Amino acid sequence: MTLQNGLPWILRARQEGWAVGAFNANTLEQAQAIVLAAQAENAPAILQVSHRALTYIGSGSEIQGLKYIAAIGKVAAESVAVPIALHLDHGTESEVLQAIALGFSSVMFDGDDLSYDENVSITKRLCETARSNGVCMEAELGEVPKPDGRAYDEAAIALTQPDEAVQFVEATGIDTFAVALGSVHGLKTKQISLDLDRLKTIRERVPVPLVLHGSSGVSDKDIEQGIAIGLCKVNVATQLSQAFTKAVREVLNRDDGVVDPRKYLDPGRDAQMEAVRERIRFFGASGKAR
Ligand code: 13P
Repeated sequence: MTLQNGLPWILRARQEGWAVGAFNANTLEQAQAIVLAAQAENAPAILQVSHRALTYIGSGSEIQGLKYIAAIGKVAAESVAVPIALHLDHGTESEVLQAIALGFSSVMFDGDDLSYDENVSITKRLCETARSNGVCMEAELGEVPKPDGRAYDEAAIALTQPDEAVQFVEATGIDTFAVALGSVHGLKTKQISLDLDRLKTIRERVPVPLVLHGSSGVSDKDIEQGIAIGLCKVNVATQLSQAFTKAVREVLNRDDGVVDPRKYLDPGRDAQMEAVRERIRFFGASGKAR
């Protein structure tokens, strides 16, 4: 199918009590694994790329990375019969505009280093452009840290404040809202509990669908309860890369004579596909393509 705007399925997921999986890719094989998993589960899915993945794929050039991904995402979506959205995860203002121009069907602006007022004004502007192009727009308030292996202070994480959230969503017109409930990007073990009371309050007061970032480090019990309360887009990255890299490492450890990259990337792709399938089932999204 051609790339789809995922908002209708995200809204349906919220109504029916499941969540759409949004899966990060850094390589061609990871992108393929995601759409093949969605196809195998007959589920809608979001294929997403972060700012750092763009820089990697574009060998240092974000615009080059966006062009590669726009092409890969389009072909990947057209290779399967289930709906796929192509999402820019944590984009800057110029990346969001370029992604929309290149045919991404969903974008996120990350204004976490800006003042509240600046964040509102840029997000609102981007939202108008996204809407006029039929693209789904996500933004975040509060902090889901990106420690990238460095130490971080759990007690100092800025969680989403309900009053500010209400104002932000109303002032910007965003389609989906990423909430900071205590999760942290990039953790390798499931060690985090979410602030579910905060989620309940935000869910009651904010009309748009809510998104969880940093799910790899969150206990499955809390993800399940979070979905029951109203999280309806769940981002997964590290957990998938762990599965991919473990399979590659096994091949290379087994045989140090391997030279052909296909010999280890193919098992990596298969392992990531299984990991995505498992998450799709866990989120209750299996069989929800239509
Ligand atoms: P994890 O790497 O913790 O799964 O986070 C993914 C994410 O939120 C991407 O935006």
